Amino acid sequence: MTQAAVSPSGASASGGAAPLLKLSGITKTFGAVRALDDVALDVRAGEVVALVGDNGAGKSTLIKTISGAGPADGGSITFEGREVHIKSPQDSTSLGIAVVYQDLALCDNLDVVENLYLGREARFHNQPFSRMNEVEMEQHAIELLGELQVKTLASVRTEVGSLSGGQRQSVAIARSLLGEPKIVILDEPTAALGVAQTAQVLALVKRLKERGLGVVLISHNLSDVFEVADRIVVLRLGRNGGEYPATSDQRQAVVAAITGVSDDKPASAATTEVQS
Ligand SMILES: Nc1ncnc2c1ncn2[C@@H]1O[C@H](COP(=O)(O)OP(=O)(O)OP(=O)(O)O)[C@@H](O)[C@H]1O
Ligand SMILES: [Mg+2]
Repeated sequence: MTQAAVSPSGASASGGAAPLLKLSGITKTFGAVRALDDVALDVRAGEVVALVGDNGAGKSTLIKTISGAGPADGGSITFEGREVHIKSPQDSTSLGIAVVYQDLALCDNLDVVENLYLGREARFHNQPFSRMNEVEMEQHAIELLGELQVKTLASVRTEVGSLSGGQRQSVAIARSLLGEPKIVILDEPTAALGVAQTAQVLALVKRLKERGLGVVLISHNLSDVFEVADRIVVLRLGRNGGEYPATSDQRQAVVAAITGVSDDKPASAATTEVQS
């Protein structure tokens, strides 16, 4: 396995800023399967960390330990410098961690505004039983999508079922921001998207970074990863497989780390689902 460090000292590519989120020694087993073994991951504010690895490497399992959907068996998680115990999605949300899952969980029969505010409808004077403030929600939706430069939506009153894949992804990402998270985790946001839609979503990822959020991007598409990430963390067979700056000269090393092919062998010799 390639263990190329970012620098000879093993220091992180993103410099000295203290991590917002720090995972260390994370383990998770499913029966006899050790899905995660002593995994570490740091995420800083204003950086995009790509989490890459072959099918079954443990990416989704790792994300679930952060999101609370599948807490870790062992290891420690610190958030803003203090140790936290994430046992449920509510724990993760209340810390300021938002996850956009690949299935997006949008309601096709509701419009964009309704999807954005599902479960957190704005009400007059914060009275729980008062009428929803539709005008306020619609204005805020337009503002938020405008800030994120989501430009291709004809109307925020369009039913989500009629949107393109990229537009749906944009709505799901915008929705994740309503809780004002500090970290957003995106699981394969460009899978199944065309070229133009992928470009839109990647632009949106850059915007999240500009807003000072820490972003974790899971992707099999290395072109996307090298376009938007600052740092690339490789998982291989449930373990850390190296960490790389997202500079184009690292591409071969990253492919080698994902596939387990050492640097002296051509990466093309390996069977992989990575799209480079
Ligand atoms: N609920 C579960 N029960 C049993 N085994 C599981 C469960 N979830 C994950 N695993 C196993 O843990 C390992 C890591 O799976 P995980 O889904 O995290 O991989 P991944 O890196 O997200 O892969 P992919 O790129 O295919 O999404 C695999 O061997 C998988 O079979
Ligand atoms: Mg997965």
